[in-house]
Amino acid sequence: MSAMNLPQREYGRSGLSVSVVGLGAGQIGDPALDEARVRRLLEVAAEAGVTLIDTAPSYGLSEVRLGRLMGDFRGQFAVSTKLGYGVPGIEDWTGPCIAAGIEQALCRLQVERLDIAHLHSCPLHVLQRDDILRALEDGRRAGKVRAIAYSGENEALAFARASGRFDGLMASLNLFDQRLIESTLSQLNGMGFIAKRPLANAPWRFDSLPQGDYCETYWRRWRTMNLPDPGMPWGELASRFAAWQTGVASAVFGTANAEHFKQIVDWVARGPLPAELLECWRTAFRQHGDGWTGQI
Ligand SMILES: NC(=O)c1ccc[n+]([C@@H]2O[C@H](COP(=O)([O-])OP(=O)(O)OC[C@H]3O[C@@H](n4cnc5c(N)ncnc54)[C@H](OP(=O)(O)O)[C@@H]3O)[C@@H](O)[C@H]2O)c1
Repeated sequence: MSAMNLPQREYGRSGLSVSVVGLGAGQIGDPALDEARVRRLLEVAAEAGVTLIDTAPSYGLSEVRLGRLMGDFRGQFAVSTKLGYGVPGIEDWTGPCIAAGIEQALCRLQVERLDIAHLHSCPLHVLQRDDILRALEDGRRAGKVRAIAYSGENEALAFARASGRFDGLMASLNLFDQRLIESTLSQLNGMGFIAKRPLANAPWRFDSLPQGDYCETYWRRWRTMNLPDPGMPWGELASRFAAWQTGVASAVFGTANAEHFKQIVDWVARGPLPAELLECWRTAFRQHGDGWTGQI
């Protein structure tokens, strides 16, 4: 299989189809980044057949830059963003903040409809508030949002799944965060699922514990699982593991580096991991992962 025919999968019952590799647009929000590099990244993604980009208001300039650049790609990319905070003058995590957040995202992204709008990792007690859910549903009813979703972990994710009110979910899924393969992916009931942090933020970059780095917990888990060198690059192992799990519509990989992104597309296009290698990592997680909670 070549990168050019990167599989497209249904995002639940939403009618939206997304590529198995999506672009996580966190890093492209860095104000220090030259916008020509973002354009190059989008060109590489478009050429590879990528059709999903995931952003958020908290990712710096990400939404605004995507709004400026995406028009040149003739609607190739479906956009997922996040809601719940960051609208000037409006209290975070309220119904009005969701409604105004939709308008703000439409304006920044320069689109008429958000393809997927996630509540951005609010805790369970916020998720249980009906005003927020109703504002999100109103946005869908008004045609401003196609699919409504929750991005988060653990008890809040379980609540969102069981509520029956979401079209999709997003959560961490990687070699060191496997719990939801059994708890969630097998019970999606028609919801779409996006895997975030699919490389576990590449802890193999560090020879010793990267204290304070986003991947610190994953680095510890990696060392605890203590499996031998997989015989392929760690990034290949991780990307194929996440993207080819049954139930995953798309895995969103975060980078602003076009070469890195191309590499991921090529790795994932090699297909699912060999069964023996996959089982080895699943078994190690079962052995060591008791109490390893989902990482936001
Ligand atoms: N709460 C939420 O909703 C939430 C939370 C976290 C993430 N997300 C979503 O998930 C996306 C991905 O998450 P993430 O960026 O945190 O984690 P990730 O995709 O697991 O890892 C990103 C890291 O992998 C490295 N990398 C990527 N491709 C590589 C390659 N070919 N070779 C070597 N290193 C490579 C990147 O380095 P370089 O930058 O050097 O390429 C970066 O350090 C985010 O962009 C976002 O869309 C959502």
